[in-house]
Amino acid sequence: MFARAAKTLFHLLARSSSLKALASRYGMRKPTSFARRFIAGETVDEAIAAARTIEAQGLHQTLDYLGESVTTLAEADAATREYLRVIEAVKQSGIERNLSLKLTQLGLNVDRATAVDNMRRILDAAEGFFVRIDMENSPFTDVTLDVFETLWQLGYRNVGVVLQSDLFRTERDVERIDALGARIRLVKGAYKEPASIAHQRKPDVDAAFLRMMNVLLTTGTYPAIATHDPVLIDATRRFAREQQIPADRFEFQMLYGIRRDLQASLVKAGYRVRIYIPFGRQWFPYFMRRLGERPANVAFVVRGILGENRLT
Ligand code: FDA
Repeated sequence: MFARAAKTLFHLLARSSSLKALASRYGMRKPTSFARRFIAGETVDEAIAAARTIEAQGLHQTLDYLGESVTTLAEADAATREYLRVIEAVKQSGIERNLSLKLTQLGLNVDRATAVDNMRRILDAAEGFFVRIDMENSPFTDVTLDVFETLWQLGYRNVGVVLQSDLFRTERDVERIDALGARIRLVKGAYKEPASIAHQRKPDVDAAFLRMMNVLLTTGTYPAIATHDPVLIDATRRFAREQQIPADRFEFQMLYGIRRDLQASLVKAGYRVRIYIPFGRQWFPYFMRRLGERPANVAFVVRGILGENRLT
């Protein structure tokens, strides 16, 4: 109940332009600024430096150049060109080639055909990369999966998608995407969704996650189990052990700056763990979703603004 209210509150606050201006002013200014707990920096060089640190710990990474909900084709084109620059920078750097992005960043909300074209420009340039299409809120579920299937039919295989266990529809979507042989990242879902289409209680979201984790580990193509929830992670490990599914047939994924202890302990136990590293100037909506998931994080922000910004 409290978790739902917090999610709602932070989604509302995410629309506040004055809060955004305040956060943008203080959040990333210094290496110790509060937003840097969750965001690697504003430039691709900072993201690559973070990726190197992550890889040195035996973790894998995926880079996300932040941005979403663009309202003009010019912005979509600019985001696409930025992704092309990121691809070149990653190639030059020698870090693992793995990206995550959002279709509304590429113009999905303006013109679907342009978003598909932009996605193709990225995939064509992304030699040796795996590109994950993040899942946004429910008005975009159908169209995101349709675009994904279009890309698949066009022959792209270096692309995967995300499905959210809070939506009632997702068990059917798992079957649909699984049937293609495509890679799915399973998450709980970061958006506030209406009760008519989504589970509202954590136990229900978690139970659905577990059911889909079982399906994906059994029939999926290299699924990503993306959660920081120790109960779900333990259940995944147990299921894999019982079903004799080798640890290299799936991976865990977590967000940059969250449960670093758990990230390290999974690596130590022999599992693959990929860290989602967000960077760029458009970090405010992403940052607000992280606060909404765990209101205790607000304490970091307040301490940061007050200048007591040593984060653990
Ligand atoms: P839950 O919220 O129950 O948290 C379990 C525990 O994790 C908490 O008790 C706490 O210890 C820790 N934790 C979780 N969130 C935290 C936070 N913000 N700060 C500090 N600690 C925190 N969603 C989506 O809708 N579309 C997408 O494409 C993606 N992509 C994605 C990629 C990756 C790699 C991950 C890990 C997650 C996503 N998500 C996502 C987000 C996802 O839907 C979900 O909102 C978050 O992962 C939080 O849920 P948990 O599964 O961690 O469980």
